[in-house]
Amino acid sequence: EHVEWEAEAAEKSGYEHYMLKEIHEQPTALRQTLSGRIDELNGEVDLDIDLPKEYLNSLEEVTFVACGTSYHAGLYAAQLVESLADVRASAEIASEYEFDGGRDPWRTLVVPVTQSGETADTLSALRRAKRAGARSLAVTNTLGSTVTREADETVFIRAGPEIGVAATKTFVSQVATLALLSVAFARARGELSTTDAIEFLGHVRQLPGAVQKVLDEEAAFKEAATEYADGEAFFFIGRKLGYPVALEGALKLKEIAYVHAEGFAAGELKHGPLALVTPKSPVLAVLTQGSSPEATLNNVKEVESRGAPVLGCTSLRDAEKFLDVTFDMPELGALSPLIANVCFQLFAYHVAKLKGRSIDKPRNLAKSVTVE
Ligand code: G6P
Repeated sequence: EHVEWEAEAAEKSGYEHYMLKEIHEQPTALRQTLSGRIDELNGEVDLDIDLPKEYLNSLEEVTFVACGTSYHAGLYAAQLVESLADVRASAEIASEYEFDGGRDPWRTLVVPVTQSGETADTLSALRRAKRAGARSLAVTNTLGSTVTREADETVFIRAGPEIGVAATKTFVSQVATLALLSVAFARARGELSTTDAIEFLGHVRQLPGAVQKVLDEEAAFKEAATEYADGEAFFFIGRKLGYPVALEGALKLKEIAYVHAEGFAAGELKHGPLALVTPKSPVLAVLTQGSSPEATLNNVKEVESRGAPVLGCTSLRDAEKFLDVTFDMPELGALSPLIANVCFQLFAYHVAKLKGRSIDKPRNLAKSVTVE
């Protein structure tokens, strides 16, 4: 038994939990994700997939199907694909997804996003889409998984094994992979100039370093967690690309800290959720590039005037006076909200730790859910 314990501690490389180790592995995971796939000189991407240019050109719709954290990655990606590649894109909760082939199934690309490649809901969404005649491209972390055998094409996110039940490094690697995919689609469709592609890919390349900057500030997140861990509920708000991150931030806190947390599109606050806001409900806001930070700042003022403590991820100087805690963000355009997500991971981790939760194996949850 003693030996087993030592082996486990060694695998965690000195970290107290796999989750913390995996949070800190994100820069490395990202470097693996991106390795050899970016031609920054020409603004091109090589994901080694067999989808001819003519096909991508004629695409009418891209639909991401996924569950949990992977669904949030899909929501992020749908916005990137739509804005870069000018094709209709959406993310669907796999268990809710119906596809009857309605429009033009062949011109619909269904993209199951699944870390494990084994999630039953996601696999059955893929099967429904295939039956209706859609083409498919899986995005997964797991070689040889079921989804790789069933989808027409596969792209691996190469994040490395993730042991913690709550997904962390695989989320960032999924979004990075999907960002590359968006560029590949956009270039094939002639929707993104070489200059713009080079700029976007430059941001992608800087992701590992930017994530590292946030990780270097871990003490600040621990301190914020210590101050606010007693909150009765936690609300995460964000717009545009900040919205999926708000959802993901809340999900992490629910999963590992067992506290009530919800993510909202910042503009929706005033349409109901504002009634829940009190001095005992900390609000965490995404106020970065790519998330309409000025507009969200107005929502921050709404909650601040109701006495809620507000923690914001931002580089906006004028935001600080409305925030109780400011997490300084490196800005990377459309990828900035993804960096804010790392702040939320660390906050959730430290809240869960203070509460003494079973962080790597939260109650009632499984790493991979193979039943519908
Ligand atoms: C489970 C896990 C989540 C994960 C979801 C989808 O619910 O607990 O962390 O996001 O499945 O998993 P997948 O492997 O399909 O990405």
